[in-house]
Amino acid sequence: MSKLNNKVAVVTGAARGLGQAICKRLADDGAKIAMADILDCGETAELCGIDAENIVHRHCDITSAEDIAALKAEVDSRLGGCDILVHSAGIFPNCPFEDMTFEFWKKVLSVNLDSAFHLCKAFVPGMKEKKWGRIIGISSNTFHVAPGTMSAYVASKGGLIGLHRVLSSEYADFGITANTVAPMLTRTAGAEEHFGKDNELFNIVLDWQDIKRPAEAADVVGAVAFLACDDSAFITGQTIPVDGGTIKL
Ligand SMILES: NC(=O)c1ccc[n+]([C@@H]2O[C@H](COP(=O)([O-])OP(=O)(O)OC[C@H]3O[C@@H](n4cnc5c(N)ncnc54)[C@H](O)[C@@H]3O)[C@@H](O)[C@H]2O)c1
Repeated sequence: MSKLNNKVAVVTGAARGLGQAICKRLADDGAKIAMADILDCGETAELCGIDAENIVHRHCDITSAEDIAALKAEVDSRLGGCDILVHSAGIFPNCPFEDMTFEFWKKVLSVNLDSAFHLCKAFVPGMKEKKWGRIIGISSNTFHVAPGTMSAYVASKGGLIGLHRVLSSEYADFGITANTVAPMLTRTAGAEEHFGKDNELFNIVLDWQDIKRPAEAADVVGAVAFLACDDSAFITGQTIPVDGGTIKL
């Protein structure tokens, strides 16, 4: 039997990058998948290769509590409620702190962190009723290395870690775990768009890593799949660095 048989995973940022790879892996592990993104998730749905009745994919802006409520209503009615929440959607713009406007700061916090508030508010009560749940946030290794010009991003990713740590305490009695994954710079559509395909940043970070190759989506997906299933039942409130040995916790 597959590890996630009869489980329902809600994945944000599912149209591409890490979110898309996570959908594919959780589907391979037997989960029904609900995909949320502002981009079309049709390609991801096809990639997952599961029956249409076991998939939800809809336009969902995760900064909107209304969009998330509509997603939840469809997940409840069509798939039977959420067991696994993976919040992967995010933006990662740079800006020196002195040049940063409050609007810029609020936008990054809204997409990366406030969204987690709305998502957990919507989906965690259902997990509590089921007495089983997995809350998984995609944070970032930048929280640990704190590179310049990323203050809003790093603050949002640190906030995500803090939220998951506290939720792990509040919901442990209900069979719910809450953890984050902190990837290194990883080759995805978003990262290549933002930093450039051949950007020297991809080479620079190799110097920081023990394992001297660029991180791929598959590296991150393995950690998420582990946190999503019963193999990780006694692990909660943790942040797993997926960074080739850059930081040692
Ligand atoms: N790729 C990396 O190097 C890296 C490293 C560490 C952490 N991360 C984190 O991993 C996550 C995924 O990154 P990625 O590289 O796959 O990025 P990506 O840009 O390839 O994918 C992000 C997805 O999020 C979606 N999204 C953005 N704003 C949204 C909104 N308001 N509502 C719904 N969906 C929205 C985008 O449309 C996109 O499909 C992000 O949270 C990012 O911060 C990425």
